[in-house]
Amino acid sequence: MKAISLLAAAAAVFVFSIPASAAVDADAANKLIKDNGCTKCHSVDKDKKGPSFKKTAAQFKGKADGEAKLVTFLTTGPKVKMGDAQEEHKIVKGDAAQVKNLVQWILAQ
Ligand code: HEC
Repeated sequence: MKAISLLAAAAAVFVFSIPASAAVDADAANKLIKDNGCTKCHSVDKDKKGPSFKKTAAQFKGKADGEAKLVTFLTTGPKVKMGDAQEEHKIVKGDAAQVKNLVQWILAQ
């Protein structure tokens, strides 16, 4: 019995430790990636030219600097591997709040 209540307590802590996702505006994030043409190379759960957002979330979620890293990635256009070539990654067109919302949405996938 004790183990079960401990598990329940752990689960409750886990659920309440992700309140940030409640504030994410998924519609705005989806519109932003459509308007920016991100969906040509990304989808939530399938790899296209770029990794799925689920994959990216798994990689960055829970890291202290995960959000900041992705914001930097999406606003500075670093060189990335596209097939055999190195190309500048697309920069998101949007204000800081829109980019932050998008990154939080990606991390919530
Ligand atoms: C022409 C194809 C293409 C377009 C358009 C594109 N991406 Fe990417 N994206 C990639 C590739 C390829 C990678 C993988 C880079 C790597 O692994 O080094 C990537 C990586 C990423 C990552 C993961 C970064 C990381 O450090 O792991 C995110 C998040 C991302 N893209 C978001 C976006 C968003 C948002 C847009 C729209 C503004 C966008 N991408 C547009 C091809 C694209």
